[in-house]
Amino acid sequence: MIRTANVADDAELARIDYESWAPVNSPSPLWERSRPFFGEQTRTSPADVLVAQRTGIVLGYVKLRRIDDSTVRLAGLAVDRRARRAGIGQGLLSAALAEARTRGYTRADLKVLGSNHVALELYRRAGFVELERVPGRFVIEGRKVDDLTLAIAL
Ligand SMILES: CC(C)(COP(=O)(O)OP(=O)(O)OC[C@H]1O[C@@H](n2cnc3c(N)ncnc32)[C@H](O)[C@@H]1OP(=O)(O)O)[C@@H](O)C(=O)NCCC(=O)NCCS
Repeated sequence: MIRTANVADDAELARIDYESWAPVNSPSPLWERSRPFFGEQTRTSPADVLVAQRTGIVLGYVKLRRIDDSTVRLAGLAVDRRARRAGIGQGLLSAALAEARTRGYTRADLKVLGSNHVALELYRRAGFVELERVPGRFVIEGRKVDDLTLAIAL
């Protein structure tokens, strides 16, 4: 089941978030384990997050962030490590695109590292196309990594 998040999901989402991001998929330094998921620090409110839940347990999330009247950014997608490769990421992505259409957006985009092959495969299969590539934009653990922007018409 996929539903809109609520504040009670904070701790579970913060854990999934903390465990999901690593140099292969994020150019940002890691944060404190205790950082809340919602709030000003992360610019995230429950109304803009969809969560995947199975048997009462939160297993993943996707964030929607308004760019302008026509474009929404999928600003984060992560699935609990123990629940991966079971279609949850794909389900969250489809639900986010459906929600974006409902909210009246005509385009969705997202940022992804060239090194994140798993996510790139997921996005390409969903129909996203490469809009921009900045070669070697980041240097992560001594390696140059491309910064990609993908987009899809809704
Ligand atoms: C990317 C992520 C959200 C995918 O979630 P998931 O629930 O495991 O994905 P799904 O099971 O829905 O997989 C959908 C498709 O993605 C691709 N995929 C997923 N995991 C893969 C893997 N380990 N290797 C290769 N392809 C993979 C496949 O095409 C898969 O379809 P298939 O299983 O029919 O072959 C998850 O790996 C994750 O949380 N990664 C860390 C955070 C991250 O990188 N997020 C994206 C940032 S831009």
